[in-house]
Amino acid sequence: MQRFCLIFLTVLASAVTLKAKTLIVYYSYTNNVHRVVTELQRQIEADVVRVQPAEKGLDYAADNYKIGSAQIAAIRNNPNDAASYPAIDPVDVDLSQYSTIIIGAPLWWSNMAAPLQTFLFKHGKEMAGKNIGLIVSSASSGISGVESDAKRLIPDGKFLTPSLWIKSSQTSNAKSLLETWLKNINYSSLDTPDMTDNQISIKIGEKAVLTATLTENSSAAALLRLLSSGPVTIDMHDYANMEKVGSLPESLPRNDTYFTTGPGDLVLYLGNQFVIYYDTNSYNFTRLGKINGNYSGAELKSLLGDGNVTVTLSSGGASSGITEFEADKRLNDGKVYDLKGNLVSAASSDLSSLTPGIYIVNGHKTMVGKH
Ligand SMILES: Cc1cc2nc3c(=O)[nH]c(=O)nc-3n(C[C@H](O)[C@H](O)[C@H](O)COP(=O)(O)O)c2cc1C
Repeated sequence: MQRFCLIFLTVLASAVTLKAKTLIVYYSYTNNVHRVVTELQRQIEADVVRVQPAEKGLDYAADNYKIGSAQIAAIRNNPNDAASYPAIDPVDVDLSQYSTIIIGAPLWWSNMAAPLQTFLFKHGKEMAGKNIGLIVSSASSGISGVESDAKRLIPDGKFLTPSLWIKSSQTSNAKSLLETWLKNINYSSLDTPDMTDNQISIKIGEKAVLTATLTENSSAAALLRLLSSGPVTIDMHDYANMEKVGSLPESLPRNDTYFTTGPGDLVLYLGNQFVIYYDTNSYNFTRLGKINGNYSGAELKSLLGDGNVTVTLSSGGASSGITEFEADKRLNDGKVYDLKGNLVSAASSDLSSLTPGIYIVNGHKTMVGKH
């Protein structure tokens, strides 16, 4: 039942900036590195660039690797001259977006495959200060020459140690080799985004805008990333008299754990269902955050209303949660009402005796005892 006509007052905070995106850059002639990168993409969230030589159809292995060895020799002879590097197709990538770059390199004559060296000769200086991970594929040769090439071409990279060497015969074991390597370089802590700006606003129909604080996990980070390209509107419905739930436009990574929800908890269910809890539920799902302000279940239920509601999520919190918005003018009679319109106090002059919460005071929705 809709008792109040509520209009929100809010100013949205600045947009979120995320620092922790990963880019994978690789070259692959016979697709071993390609297979490794395909597996890596299953394990981490990353954008991918595959470098392609401008000249198509070259057989680098023919005549005892004649073309490949000529390209490597040219670079070795004159590494500071752009003309030493084979041309590659243009690559449209804004490296400033990424904090970590993983390079997937085939080994050619103990060096980094020439087309990949071309990319790094052009862009390696833009990678200054970034985390650089190196994965090298060779038939049998050790990878120190490829590591030296990477360091020469990315002089100010923060190289992650160790590099990962996957022999071509080990390509089918890439899954476990990558899992171990990602642990060794402590990738999960590298990829924790900057969550200092971890507030989002939740606009409930035309009634109210609440602010929520997101949890520090990859699911909430992915939600922030989604919201950084614009607000997301979700059609939500009640479920089991404990939550409003609706579909996100895309799935987010899951960090499911078993826990019991409380009012205001924001939860990701099955990877793509966004849930606002107004009551308790124990289940295996992912914490996304919590609505600020310690609203009671009854208050949230009242704000969310009965039945379906359209909820819009935006990055950045509302100016200070709900501070005040217009309520039913019929309740503007100098008395204090609860959100259901029940009389709480005959006088609005003394709010100090009230339990902290949201009340209708002089016809305005007012938080008592909260910031
Ligand atoms: C031109 C060229 C030179 C190579 N030189 C070596 C080498 O010196 N030592 C070695 O162990 N493998 C060498 N290889 C083999 C590759 O490093 C190996 O097959 C790798 O898995 C290729 O990766 P890709 O399939 O992604 O292109 C060479 C391959 C090519 C094409």
